[in-house]
Amino acid sequence: MITSDPTIGETLKIAILYQSLRGGTKRLAETLGTNFQSKGSSVGVYPITNYDAQFVLEADLIVIGTWTDGLFGLGARPGQLGKLNTLRNIAHKDVALFVTYEISPERSLNGLKEWAEERSSNVVAAAGFKVRGPFKKDIQDEIDLFIENSLNPVTH
Ligand SMILES: Cc1cc2nc3c(=O)[nH]c(=O)nc-3n(C[C@H](O)[C@H](O)[C@H](O)COP(=O)(O)O)c2cc1C
Repeated sequence: MITSDPTIGETLKIAILYQSLRGGTKRLAETLGTNFQSKGSSVGVYPITNYDAQFVLEADLIVIGTWTDGLFGLGARPGQLGKLNTLRNIAHKDVALFVTYEISPERSLNGLKEWAEERSSNVVAAAGFKVRGPFKKDIQDEIDLFIENSLNPVTH
């Protein structure tokens, strides 16, 4: 999905790269894309293993997301980091990070932050989103906050 809003003078280019096992993180990545787009950004949403290298290279912000893997409480970590490692150089790029989870995003989000910092990227925002589990949660407020936190450092 690549879209832009021609009414906005200075369009930000945002690449959203996700790793998803069962589709929840993919769905969230697409929802984030729609939300960034409604703020006037030009957005590309790709699986992290199959992205448009030119689009990512030119992006003002790279949003990277994966799911929380672990034993539901013990030793949680970012899911399928090996796939994220196929991503090319993101040194000195502004990145916004997200994880999806069912119980707690803390450890996986910290792991993803460490992963991004080891690659010398500039983490501008990070958030966990509960996209499934025993009860349904309305995450629109959290999406709005993530979009705002991601765009503020890039546009100012
Ligand atoms: C093997 C496996 C282990 C998981 N371990 C955890 C965990 O330790 N903590 C947690 O909060 N969620 C855990 N989850 C839940 C997923 O992180 C959550 O459902 C996520 O949204 C799945 O994303 P996906 O649909 O893109 O694969 C686990 C899911 C799977 C399949």
